[in-house]
Amino acid sequence: MRLQELILESENRLTQANVSFGHGTDNAHDEASWLVLWSLGLALDTDTHQYTNELNAAQVERALAIVDQRIQERIPSAYLTGEAWLQGIPFFVDKRSIIPRSLIAECLVNASIDPWLSLHTSRVLDLCTGNASLAIICAMVFPDVRIDALDLSTEALEVARINVDRHLLADRIDLKISDGLEHAIDPYDLILCNPPYVNSQSMKELPPEYKAEPVISLDGGSDGMDFIRKFLNDAPAHLSDIGVIVLEVGHEREHFENAFSNLECVWLETSQGEDQVVLITKAALSAYAQHPDH
Ligand SMILES: C[S@@+](CC[C@H](N)C(=O)[O-])C[C@H]1O[C@@H](n2cnc3c(N)ncnc32)[C@H](O)[C@@H]1O
Repeated sequence: MRLQELILESENRLTQANVSFGHGTDNAHDEASWLVLWSLGLALDTDTHQYTNELNAAQVERALAIVDQRIQERIPSAYLTGEAWLQGIPFFVDKRSIIPRSLIAECLVNASIDPWLSLHTSRVLDLCTGNASLAIICAMVFPDVRIDALDLSTEALEVARINVDRHLLADRIDLKISDGLEHAIDPYDLILCNPPYVNSQSMKELPPEYKAEPVISLDGGSDGMDFIRKFLNDAPAHLSDIGVIVLEVGHEREHFENAFSNLECVWLETSQGEDQVVLITKAALSAYAQHPDH
């Protein structure tokens, strides 16, 4: 069997099994290519049209075994391979933390938040850092900033440590355990936060691949806003005068707007639309504190 035939066979198996995507790929062909190339020890950018070597039986068996494991156990491929990419950056990942996919990474790389930053932006917080992917991408995009990266999960912080060390950023990213902003110290110029925001109804309906991720990463309570309510209430004390928050709310814009109807904010454009990442200034939060919703 040749590489392209093996990928096609794997793609067909994934399609027939109706697995869910969204952890690095969004279709059966890409997912099949990922698993097959990884199992063969080939780079993910291998030109499969050019690779015409006949594969031996052991190679085919190894590749199909991991595809079948993906199907039978409904585990995201990133957990099977131990690696995920975000904005072209590789991250180690295992079941101790969520798989990197935050849209905030796009906003950092495509500079859509830059108009709200200044030359004085130097202290950054990545709250709910998980695997540390946002802290790491932020450190790469802004080489002069220092970043505190906080998370409540010690297990997630172990994965974060691996990624921070892998990218040689231990001198610029401080990992700390913290329940919300409890152990945040500085006034920050920029707070990035991709929190648990999935509402209770959606939690029940999640495909098994998402249930393989730590519940603490996803579960945002009845309307998805449990973490965000406390965070936005506590945040003004941790923002400098020029400070801004960039917050991901996933598919919960409606719940967010119901909970914070008096809060002035800017919805940032991403590849998934203009309703998943919101930017809030310190000034808007302070005004909101004077006229909250309740
Ligand atoms: C959606 S994941 C985001 C992980 C990472 N920033 C990313 O974008 O891939 C949410 C993270 O919030 C953490 N978390 C949940 N509750 C928290 C809390 N009360 N305080 C701090 N972190 C919390 C979880 O452990 C998880 O790592």
